[in-house]
Amino acid sequence: MRWIFGRDTGACLILSCVLFLGALAARAETLLERGTYLVNSIVACGNCHTQQTPNGPVNDMELAGGLLIEQPAFTVYTPNITPDAETGIGEWTDQQIIDAIREGRRPDGSIMGPPMPFVWYRNMSDEDARAIVAYLRSVKPVRNAVDRPQYSFPLPPSYGPPVGAVAAAARDDKVAYGAYLAGPLGHCVECHSPAGPDGAPDVANQLGAGGFAFYGPWGTSASANITPTNLGHWSDDDIKAAIARGTRPDGTSLLPPMPVVYYKNIAAQDMDAIVAYLRTLSPK
Ligand code: HEC
Ligand code: HEC
Repeated sequence: MRWIFGRDTGACLILSCVLFLGALAARAETLLERGTYLVNSIVACGNCHTQQTPNGPVNDMELAGGLLIEQPAFTVYTPNITPDAETGIGEWTDQQIIDAIREGRRPDGSIMGPPMPFVWYRNMSDEDARAIVAYLRSVKPVRNAVDRPQYSFPLPPSYGPPVGAVAAAARDDKVAYGAYLAGPLGHCVECHSPAGPDGAPDVANQLGAGGFAFYGPWGTSASANITPTNLGHWSDDDIKAAIARGTRPDGTSLLPPMPVVYYKNIAAQDMDAIVAYLRTLSPK
């Protein structure tokens, strides 16, 4: 009798294990899991809000701000966006943080300046914005006071009409989801468009044509052309290696601020969607 009992128990264990795994697979990703994935991969807020060394983000200063960004038109130190109550955004409500990200507006109603890509973040879905807020709340509060940036030119009264509700992007259309990843989430196309007459990336006429200049400890780098004019000769794997490992087909490495340290965490499916979208850009 004992062995029968043992066999039944084994079968029961296997069955409950199968049910358990099934339940896990069916369980929706939590907001915090989604936010953790986004911020540490495609969205890469830390590429601007975390001080960087040549080897990557500074330890124990995640999202604590103080990174210097220099452009001909302005010089800024990025703010601390950890939950520290005094020097970070610990006292802000979820909606205030979402308004900062998608509208470029602080809780006191004042408007923020460049280079945070508000024009792209406006189209970030409500769900992804809430996921990012959930992650921001989970990082270690760091005390690090950073002066508010000063801009020597007038900022716009707003970056557009109130954002309102933004529905989740459908993931079954690969190219459309790739456009969402490379635009509203990752702003690849903003960094990769040359400066227009006002100094801002000319996404209206030169989307993806490259040539925007970035200054930093690495010297000067210019974003590359990511339309088929340049990447048309690259295989999908070549493009993925550049994004996730920072290596070109000829073996040379990409300079900052291409956020390779974050992009190495982009999921395979998302990477496929990004490449599919890049292939559809109009050649420049
Ligand atoms: C390209 C650089 C860049 C990226 C990417 C970026 N930011 Fe910013 N962010 C800035 C700068 C610069 C400011 C300051 C603007 C100002 O005060 O006028 C700022 C301001 C903020 C503020 C307001 C903080 C305060 O105290 O006023 C919040 C909140 C914020 N960013 C969150 C985020 C989040 C979340 C992400 C990722 C989804 C992100 N930022 C991505 C550069 C960036
Ligand atoms: C903060 C600005 C920035 C963002 C965001 C950014 N890039 Fe880049 N990217 C650069 C710069 C600068 C270079 C060139 C670096 C160099 O010359 O070493 C580059 C290089 C590349 C290259 C290499 C092309 C070549 O011919 O050398 C590819 C491919 C690329 N980026 C794709 C992307 C994609 C896709 C995204 C979004 C997932 C993205 N980039 C986001 C700044 C950025």
